[in-house]
Amino acid sequence: MERLEIPFFTTKFQYERHREKINEALIKKAESGEFILGSSVREFEEKLSLYTGAKYSIAVASGTDALILALDAMNLPKGSEVITTPFSFFSSTSCIVRNGLKPVFVDVDEKTFNIDVQLIEDKINENTSAILPVHLFCQTSQMDEIMRISKKYGLKVLEDSAESFGVRYRGIHAGLIGDAGVLSFFPTKTLGAFGDAGAVITNNEEIAERVRILRVHGASPKYFHKYIGYNSRMDAIQAEVLKVKMGFVEEEIREREKAAHIYNEILSEVEEVKTPEVIEGVDPVWYVYNIRAKERDKLRNFLKEKGIGTTIYYPRPLHLQKCFEYLGYSEGDFPVAERLCKESLALPLFPGITEEMVNYVCRVIKNFYSRGG
Ligand SMILES: Cc1ncc(COP(=O)(O)O)c(C=O)c1O
Repeated sequence: MERLEIPFFTTKFQYERHREKINEALIKKAESGEFILGSSVREFEEKLSLYTGAKYSIAVASGTDALILALDAMNLPKGSEVITTPFSFFSSTSCIVRNGLKPVFVDVDEKTFNIDVQLIEDKINENTSAILPVHLFCQTSQMDEIMRISKKYGLKVLEDSAESFGVRYRGIHAGLIGDAGVLSFFPTKTLGAFGDAGAVITNNEEIAERVRILRVHGASPKYFHKYIGYNSRMDAIQAEVLKVKMGFVEEEIREREKAAHIYNEILSEVEEVKTPEVIEGVDPVWYVYNIRAKERDKLRNFLKEKGIGTTIYYPRPLHLQKCFEYLGYSEGDFPVAERLCKESLALPLFPGITEEMVNYVCRVIKNFYSRGG
């Protein structure tokens, strides 16, 4: 078998294809002398609202900040409980703690990696104030059920849709089903900046207004501080990069989809591999193609030997992180999340990935198991 070198992720092909447009935007910004917020960020926010259908888009410094500011803007009672998932990136829980609130974990559904909606109601009590579902990899959580529960108990919903640019649930863009949602434009994301960047999207005017003020130190007008805010403004250069990339993101989404379909088709024949399942009502966008694999670590090493990069999302669940020890959880509390940490493996997926590359990854995986692992 001919050997190929396939990184887990690269922007190389994307940049090669669009070098001129991107360079032009960067130089224009360098010459303008406008580096923070300003017209570039305003224009990007408008484009983002148009694309997602959000009434309000507020560009901030990262997806992590978007979570912190959006939750702050919801003004939940201090010390109240927020239900979320232990199988996620760190900031979907750290934002809860940073706001003086208490994370309460609920296990996930092994087929989708997202919060198991059947288990949420058991964790609700008089101190619960919100649900923070995380939409991982290619799809949303089961938002019909989450919204039913939130209405029944009067809870706010903040969607961690950091990974869900372009994903829609029953026609609505991820992040706009609950009270607010966030997007991350971390460079590997479906829409990625040249550094850190993020946004809050919402149809709620009050939340939007507060986030807008919170991102500039809580000041409105300047130097008159209504809230104890943050310095969390999107750089103009990032907004310019994102504006250019929005021009071809749909094309790249189709390219990701094509690759995901090939992975699905070939890997569904491999008994030792479980391919991702998309729930009813979701139009997926393949930010990450994540499988569950027998002998995951051995497979990962084998792929590495054959020139293929992979990533583990996530190697340790949040309830077992040192910094959350004080919450009192222990091993065995969330068996599905714990198992997924041992089984999940994200395969190469990036703009410019070819059919040949995807076929090669699949061949190597088949080869690994046919040798007996
Ligand atoms: C689920 C999830 N939440 C939050 C974040 C945080 O976003 P950022 O890296 O832009 O701070 C990320 C991305 O890294 C993420 O994947």
